[in-house]
Amino acid sequence: MMRVWNGIAEWRQRRASMGSASVGVVPTMGALHSGHASLVDRCRRENEIAVVTIFVNPTQFNDPTDLDRYPQTMEQDLALLRELGVDDVLAPNAREMYPHGYRYRVEAKDAERIMEAKHRPGFLEGVMTVVMKLLNLARADRAYFGEKDFQQLRTVSEMVEEFFLTTEIIACPTVRTASGLAESSRNCLLSPAGLEKAAELYRVLMQADSAATATGWLEASGFRVDYVEEHWGRRFAAAFLEGVRLIDNVPLAK
Ligand code: PAF
Repeated sequence: MMRVWNGIAEWRQRRASMGSASVGVVPTMGALHSGHASLVDRCRRENEIAVVTIFVNPTQFNDPTDLDRYPQTMEQDLALLRELGVDDVLAPNAREMYPHGYRYRVEAKDAERIMEAKHRPGFLEGVMTVVMKLLNLARADRAYFGEKDFQQLRTVSEMVEEFFLTTEIIACPTVRTASGLAESSRNCLLSPAGLEKAAELYRVLMQADSAATATGWLEASGFRVDYVEEHWGRRFAAAFLEGVRLIDNVPLAK
């Protein structure tokens, strides 16, 4: 039977009771979709105990409206996780997660100010700080992250290496709808027409011959482009559609 832990002290007792069983964790902000389900599935297959965290982390939102609008679907999320056979859900509150406010944080001092780091100041620091906290609480053998948030995945992997954390970070492929749209918690904020159009983000990233062409094509089809950039053999984009910020990335053709 799946158990839900809201208090950190109770969770720590439960974690201590797991003994030497292998533990996997999937950190999430809720509003779960099939992308999360694939992470959970892999986590279940590779570990004796599968833990999911649900915490909408305020420190990674640079725009308070974005935080206010972020979808919260706790009852639905718990029903899905029960169906998926998750053992434990840790869903703490912000007061317990940040007992000293946001006084202590993890920063990458000379980090390349590119993409999300440039366009969402404080985002990566907020993510690193909360992931450090969640990994310390879960004390998992493995933690599962999607490649859709590639820069986040890369930063978290570096942080784990840098601080000698013992959790192995497992990268999992982006899950897409039949139209190619990357699954995202934000997709539920789009209208049916917006959902259809949003798939163009993936098509353009795949088909354009340069970042500049991709930007032009996206703008021509009604997206407001934050960036299209190429790094690490991949092409990345963030663009707004119907006021919703979508991100995606694809490997560059060799
Ligand atoms: O990818 C997310 O949902 C969040 O950034 C994460 C990793 C759960 C940290 O809040």
